[in-house]
Amino acid sequence: MCGIVAGVSSRNIVPILVEGLKRLEYRGYDSCGVAVHQDGVLRRTRSTARVAELQEQIVADHVQSGTGIAHTRWATHGAPAVHNAHPHFSGPQSPETATSPADADRAARIALVHNGIIENHDELRDELKAKGFRFQSQTDTEVIAHLVNHLYDGDLFDAVQRAVVRLKGAYAIAVFCRDEPHRVIGARAGSPLVLGVGEGENFLASDAMALAGVTDQVVYLEEGDVVDVQLGKHWINGLQADGSLKTVQREVRTVHAHTGAAELGPYRHYMQKEIFEQPRAIGDTLDGINGISPELFGDGAYRAFKDVDQVLILACGTSYYAGSVARYWLESIAKIPTSIEVASEYRYRDSVPDPRTLVVTISQSGETADTLSALKHARSMGMTNTLTICNVHTSAMVRECKFNFITRAGAEIGVASTKAFTTQLVGLFVLTLALAQVRGHLDDATEATHLKALRHLPAGVQAVLALEPQIMAWSEEFATKENALFLGRGLHYPIALEGALKLKEISYIHAEAYPAGELKHGPLVRARGGELFVFADADSRIESDTGLHVIRMPEHYGVLSPILHVVTLQLLAYHTACARGTDVDKPRNLAKSVTVE
Ligand code: M6R
Repeated sequence: MCGIVAGVSSRNIVPILVEGLKRLEYRGYDSCGVAVHQDGVLRRTRSTARVAELQEQIVADHVQSGTGIAHTRWATHGAPAVHNAHPHFSGPQSPETATSPADADRAARIALVHNGIIENHDELRDELKAKGFRFQSQTDTEVIAHLVNHLYDGDLFDAVQRAVVRLKGAYAIAVFCRDEPHRVIGARAGSPLVLGVGEGENFLASDAMALAGVTDQVVYLEEGDVVDVQLGKHWINGLQADGSLKTVQREVRTVHAHTGAAELGPYRHYMQKEIFEQPRAIGDTLDGINGISPELFGDGAYRAFKDVDQVLILACGTSYYAGSVARYWLESIAKIPTSIEVASEYRYRDSVPDPRTLVVTISQSGETADTLSALKHARSMGMTNTLTICNVHTSAMVRECKFNFITRAGAEIGVASTKAFTTQLVGLFVLTLALAQVRGHLDDATEATHLKALRHLPAGVQAVLALEPQIMAWSEEFATKENALFLGRGLHYPIALEGALKLKEISYIHAEAYPAGELKHGPLVRARGGELFVFADADSRIESDTGLHVIRMPEHYGVLSPILHVVTLQLLAYHTACARGTDVDKPRNLAKSVTVE
């Protein structure tokens, strides 16, 4: 998804902008660009290639400045093309004065980058065209640049505040003006934006990770905030209940800006690194859990858990599959009726709300727009007991939910989710036990048995990782296939779904999952000459044969076995993709965190 980096400094800021874009590359993008204030005019460099190529262009063009904005774009409105790439410029509104795009650039007054989607862009475009603004792109973003320009009267902070009230939809923006060289204005609603506070310099970014190594002092801007970023000072105007904007103070937090996560170490790809980090990630997620208690999810959770009769899980993609495993646990162990909905579907259908529902959202990023909208929809229907299992403690999801469980996977860079999934499962299992306890289905001995099994997981995953050479041998064969069916029964059906998703995400092999028993109602495999690859439980008697390949799991893990089985499928997808030579960490057409609906 799109990424923003911007700042004002007395040193040349361009290397910081480019490095920030590189840190955001993992989120997925199809074009990128930088704009600066240089020699009294606005200059921009844009590309549909990688950030490394953009950097070469910037160096060749001697682009330097203390004030600039930069962006990685994931196309939503308008094709991935240079003229649609951000930053967007706005210049004089008389069409006669801007005869070509190059002339328009030289005459530009406003430069702007944007994450999100402006829903009323058609209406605004018509209005601005009627005022004489000439559009160079098919994007929704360009309307904001022209709108700010139209409202500009010598004070950019004021112009942006007047512009944002006209916007419907989601946005995080960074904008600067030719006539105010040491100032960048940011604003956010529905898309994340942070202010990085440095010494005599200040920054904006869509993720604190982009500022790693530049500043660890960060303000997480809130919904509706508009921020004035200058050399050595900043102001924030916050949205009030009556719709007005007033100066507010926001907490400056120290972030440990994930620098370690950006290093690959001995691994070829982030995905491989993250698969191998799982014993550590699971151990960290369990750290400090010495006994089961609802309070692990926040103060007041006991009362809330007592008050609910059912669970509704809302999530997307891999997180949805984690929720699908949890449904089995919640119904079999905590004996609580549980339903799960794909978050992007939930608010588009009529459902029957029950206030005695615990709404559980699951999200690695905590910024997935579909899941956030589904959460708001559930709340608007009176279901106010909300809990999230999330990997980013500063995310919108954590702020929006009453209760939370933070997984400690650490920053996940690979687009294909791995360690986030297994740590989500750990969090969901702990939630199952807490609900079981409150509902009288967890005696001390059973609690102790489950805790012991949880604590064994890091060692269990380590033993599964040792299967890598055998899985690599299989991946050579998989790499030559065009289709794959993943089969699983019960708790393992969602793992089959996740395995199929991993394989198709990064190797582009067509893959589908079937509940094992459903196969006879659809595509029978072995009897029709299909080849079988089986990850068999330690105690199963299945043996390799012609057209039947078996890798035996090291141990039998009982109800926690999905957490171990999925690791084999992650390795299979990873090595198959490597064998096919795909860009594993940045698969085509995929974004790491989907912050638009
Ligand atoms: O950040 P989230 O967990 O909310 O993201 C949900 C999905 O977009 C995500 O799991 C996606 O399916 C991954 N690419 C899967 O590998």
